[in-house]
Amino acid sequence: MNPKVISGFSKLSKAEKIDWIAKNFITKNTADVTAIFDTFLCADSDTQRIIDGFSENTVSNFHLPYGVAPNFVINDKTYCVPMVIEESSVVAAASSAAKYWLTRGGFHAQVLSTTKIGQVHFSWTGDFTRLLLAFDELKKILLSQSAPLVSNMEQRGGGIRNIELLNMTDLEADYYQLRVSFETCDSMGANLINSVLESFGKTMIEFFQNSQFFSENEKNVTILMAILSNYTPDCLVRAWVECPIDQLGTKSAPDVNLLAQKFYKAVQIATIDPYRATTHNKGIYNGVDAVVLATGNDFRAIEACGHTYAARDGQYRSLSRCSIENGIFRFWIDLPLAVGTVGGLTKLHPLAKFSLEMLGNPSAKELMQIIAVVGLAQNFAAVKSLVTTGIQQGHMKMHLGNILLNFQASGQECDMAQKHFSENAITFSAVREYLEALRKSDL
Ligand code: MEV
Repeated sequence: MNPKVISGFSKLSKAEKIDWIAKNFITKNTADVTAIFDTFLCADSDTQRIIDGFSENTVSNFHLPYGVAPNFVINDKTYCVPMVIEESSVVAAASSAAKYWLTRGGFHAQVLSTTKIGQVHFSWTGDFTRLLLAFDELKKILLSQSAPLVSNMEQRGGGIRNIELLNMTDLEADYYQLRVSFETCDSMGANLINSVLESFGKTMIEFFQNSQFFSENEKNVTILMAILSNYTPDCLVRAWVECPIDQLGTKSAPDVNLLAQKFYKAVQIATIDPYRATTHNKGIYNGVDAVVLATGNDFRAIEACGHTYAARDGQYRSLSRCSIENGIFRFWIDLPLAVGTVGGLTKLHPLAKFSLEMLGNPSAKELMQIIAVVGLAQNFAAVKSLVTTGIQQGHMKMHLGNILLNFQASGQECDMAQKHFSENAITFSAVREYLEALRKSDL
């Protein structure tokens, strides 16, 4: 029996779990490991209990910086946007893009659609024309049997919008699908959608057994799985900025035509080259994920969806677009974003709740707009830096603090290094050499 394998781990108390980790996986005693984990616990035990409850086997918290990017004007409304992210230059870049567009008309955003999708995947052998004939009745029964599940959502203006039957047998033997469209209003809706789909699966088994549409050997249906799709191309928001080219200039980029042309080309390159598109879109998700996390939404779902959307025509491409027409520079993004402002962790996580409060308790649609705008702002800041000063200047300035931490620089050393490197190129080895020299000189 492998001594490092355990059963019933989840049933142990937190202290027992930490003791077991210390004994089996860390060469420190239990007290030391406990001390490390305890350092990151919430001071308030009630809050810690809430965090512990989110996931299995929680032994501590993993801290990430909670920053804010002020000065975001979106559709004439001003926001201070909460962002949770560890990468040093992201919040600074978002803030600088927000300020840049503040004096150029601000950001604009519009929700284009809000439909979410769920699927019941099933296997069935039989005559498809009979399945088609039966489908109208099946649909009615599915809707009536799931009515209690969706009644609350219907009262809020949402519910099931459509059920389609897809014959996928040309791709996989005996494979069919129900594709179900939902409106879930201010909630992301995953739980509701999955509950409805699972109830559909049960109803279908009964329906196939009892329906007169089918012959004896067509009465068996196998429900393979029932689950929402995180691909929501019809839960889409558009964000954009625009201004006359001659207003684009800044100190670092005084030649407005050159800036506009290089920026446009950079976006074109990300549209045609998947290697560049991936990095370009990563920059967009630096901003998107940070707000999604800060508001207690599911960043994995958001990313998975966005990357599929970026490859919707068969090639992975930039999510943002740029045009220069009649002297007007326009930069925009269409982003699928299935987020909620009620349900999930949005109101349970104290900081997520606080983030939403800071944003003025937006509806899901307003939050979609804010998130898309921050993604666009992040992308704008990155591409503008890339085609002008290069990315490292700003990035390394922000990263200097991390390098200094790495060398355990004291407060005084940090202050001196910040001063020195405001005029010198920042690299890991340059900082090391600077600190070595400083320490030798006994300052
Ligand atoms: C770094 O996190 C993101 C960038 O690489 C994005 C980009 O290249 O557009 C700067």
